[in-house]
Amino acid sequence: MAVSVRLGSSPSILLLPLLFLFTIPSLASACDRCARHSKAAYYTSSLTLAAGSCGYGTAAASFNGGLLAAAGPALYRGGVGCGACFQVRCKDKKLCSGAGARVVVTDRARMRTNRTDLVLSSPAFAAMGRPGMAARLTKLRAVDVEYKRVPCEYRGKNLSVRVEERSRAPSELAVRFLYQGGQTDIVAVDVAQVGSSSWKFMTREHGPAWSTRQAPAGPLQFRVVVTGGYDGKWVWADREVLPSRWRAGEVYDTGVQITDVAQEGCFPCDTQEWR
Ligand SMILES: *[C@@H]1O[C@H](CO)[C@@H](O)[C@H](O)[C@H]1NC(C)=O
Ligand SMILES: *[C@@H]1O[C@H](CO)[C@@H](O)[C@H](O)[C@H]1NC(C)=O
Repeated sequence: MAVSVRLGSSPSILLLPLLFLFTIPSLASACDRCARHSKAAYYTSSLTLAAGSCGYGTAAASFNGGLLAAAGPALYRGGVGCGACFQVRCKDKKLCSGAGARVVVTDRARMRTNRTDLVLSSPAFAAMGRPGMAARLTKLRAVDVEYKRVPCEYRGKNLSVRVEERSRAPSELAVRFLYQGGQTDIVAVDVAQVGSSSWKFMTREHGPAWSTRQAPAGPLQFRVVVTGGYDGKWVWADREVLPSRWRAGEVYDTGVQITDVAQEGCFPCDTQEWR
């Protein structure tokens, strides 16, 4: 696939040469805002997705009103797809509404019946239905759907950092990002003491989980690189995010929301199909 990378399309976007290293894995998702066609199934147990492999744990249940999804390999992308949001609608116009359901990825799909890209939570599957059609819809185990990547709706929540239990102050820090942008991937994370420019990079462990064994003493600020298709930019939380005495299990607000990076330079796709 021939791909051209456009730089500096907006003055607010600070691109670093380093970024090339990070954007390469995300190119595969460059056109994921286009409508795609697949099948969607659902899990009858609500536990599966909340305890999903993205590791959001109980927080997942509060995401998006429980409209969750497990993603097949192409969407899960080894965990990079965690936190992505999709609008998914079934193609049966009698049973399903045109708007479909908006879901957030919290898990890796384990069942692969007939190339199912998305396995929804049962509320999400039912939410695709027209009023009164949920019961008929859920009788079908899988339906033909189209879906596209969309912003997540977290009701004004900022990007947040959950300090994971295995962190050991001061230097062993493991965090998990919550409420990231639905159409963008986090591809790099740095941490520094507030007021310092001595940034330490964090390593992605899995999905939204990043860690370092060289965390500076707090209070701590963060910066992350987000990409949406071809473009990437640094998003700075240049204020105290973690206090000096950060605590495992706590969730800290970064004070920034990751909005979508303009998807310029995306090659032609079938967004027009979605009406
Ligand atoms: C795959 O789809 C075909 C036709 O839609 C169906 O007959 C078959 O049972 C499906 N296989 C699985 C494993 O669900
Ligand atoms: C998000 O961060 C801003 C500061 O940048 C703050 O004013 C706002 O209250 C935060 N929103 C939520 C929902 O915490």
